[in-house]
Amino acid sequence: MNRVRAWLVTTLLLVGACAGFFLYKVKKVSADDFKHHDNNFKFQNGDRATDFHALGMIDRGRNTFRYATFGDEDFWGGTLQLHKAIEGQKLGGIGGGVSPATALAVGLKVDVDALPPSLLRQLKQGKVNLNDPAVTVALLKLNAVVGLTGFFDHSGNLKSLGTQCALCHSTVDNSFAPGIGHRLDGWANRDLNVGAIVNLSPDLSSVAKVLNVSESTVRTVLNSWGPGKFDAELFTDGRAFNGTKSGAVLIPPAFGLAGVNLHTWTGWGSVTYWNAFVANLEMHGKGVFFDPRLADATRFPVAAQNGFDNVRSDVDEITPKLADLHFYQLALSSPLPPPNSYDHAAARRGKEIFNGRAQCSSCHVPPLFTEPGWNMHTAQEIGVDDFQASRAPDDRYRTSPLKGLWTHEKGGFYHDGRFATLMDVVNHYDTFKSLHLSNQDKKDLVEYLKSL
Ligand code: HEC
Ligand code: HEC
Repeated sequence: MNRVRAWLVTTLLLVGACAGFFLYKVKKVSADDFKHHDNNFKFQNGDRATDFHALGMIDRGRNTFRYATFGDEDFWGGTLQLHKAIEGQKLGGIGGGVSPATALAVGLKVDVDALPPSLLRQLKQGKVNLNDPAVTVALLKLNAVVGLTGFFDHSGNLKSLGTQCALCHSTVDNSFAPGIGHRLDGWANRDLNVGAIVNLSPDLSSVAKVLNVSESTVRTVLNSWGPGKFDAELFTDGRAFNGTKSGAVLIPPAFGLAGVNLHTWTGWGSVTYWNAFVANLEMHGKGVFFDPRLADATRFPVAAQNGFDNVRSDVDEITPKLADLHFYQLALSSPLPPPNSYDHAAARRGKEIFNGRAQCSSCHVPPLFTEPGWNMHTAQEIGVDDFQASRAPDDRYRTSPLKGLWTHEKGGFYHDGRFATLMDVVNHYDTFKSLHLSNQDKKDLVEYLKSL
């Protein structure tokens, strides 16, 4: 009897334990389930949705910045026939072709991450002929030339060429060789000779027509730009020269722009305004652009005559990319200077002068180093001529954000590079504003500028 009772109790206990475990499990699963739904909801609508969305935008924006041509190959390849100049007569193009050595010499950069290991090995061993245009074409095929995309037919022949933002606004870290390395997006390519590259085109008659001048005048103007410079305003007002000096301006950095109100040297508009401007009017991508300020035929004769104030392409390859592109650009932070690239104690003293006696911070407000608000000044306020300011709607210069100055010393400072060094900039302010800075003050100020 006792045995039967013991057996019954054991069975009951076992069944009970199983039922309890089962119930516990079921309850746990349903609780998890609930949590899971909650997560799903949060994922689609809450903070995590924002994080996820932001990462997606950066990813797509980076892709646009580096690789999108916006359909501009119909202009650079189709109209200007630049791809023919690159491949040269031997490969079915025109002229001698562009060798990798020439491409690097005009400031084009090669993305080392796009090169297969076998090619890297051959390059290291000096087995690649850098004087052969066929190698340039092979690099284009690998999508390894920063800012240029080759378009190939089924037989592998170069058929067209497009340009990207990265052409002017990225460089490489030279980690493999000079001009060959990992991409640095947002860094101004001050080696790039845009004028010389465009001048390779065998047919600039379309540009001549837009500007209402002869083709040889177009070539003279392009030759006047020099490395690190471009003249976006030329295609609005046709004013190529400031007296005898070229009207081209330096390529500015495209990092550290978050929080900055107006952009370009002369404050044409916001980042996304300018992105649309460039993609439509300068790169000749296919999109929509609207700015009635350009309809003013007195100030902007070229733009008014060509209807640049209201561009409507049949297919819009630009507008759908603007949001992500904008977001990516705002996400590009200013690179920090190498720790040994400036004197830390002097920089600390320079900071005091910047914010104090020299009154730099009245315009360059830290930590943005431009004014929150309408960050614009007349030429008289900063002691320079107003040629470039007068080519933009507000007749002013935008207070340049100063972070990462150390990345773009080449080509000089101010919009046209008129000050070769930071010391020249400081001397200019010292004289113009009668600051009475000592030589030591000036040196300290320069060290501070290098530290930003
Ligand atoms: C041919 C060279 C070139 C290409 C290509 C180019 N830019 Fe620029 N970019 C410039 C120059 C030069 C300026 C200065 C323009 C001025 O002030 O007149 C500039 C200015 C800018 C600025 C303003 C930066 C600041 O200081 O506030 C932004 C943003 C910018 N570009 C984004 C882009 C984007 C996005 C693309 C691609 C859609 C692009 N650029 C393509 C040369 C280029
Ligand atoms: C009245 C406002 C104002 C004051 C004060 C001022 N700046 Fe500037 N700064 C500007 C503007 C505007 C520019 C853009 C000039 C141009 O586009 O050519 C500029 C440009 C610069 C640049 C060149 C940036 C580049 O990318 O080429 C440097 C460097 C600079 N300022 C440093 C200083 C220092 C140092 C002081 C103090 C001694 C100072 N600034 C005082 C308005 C000001």
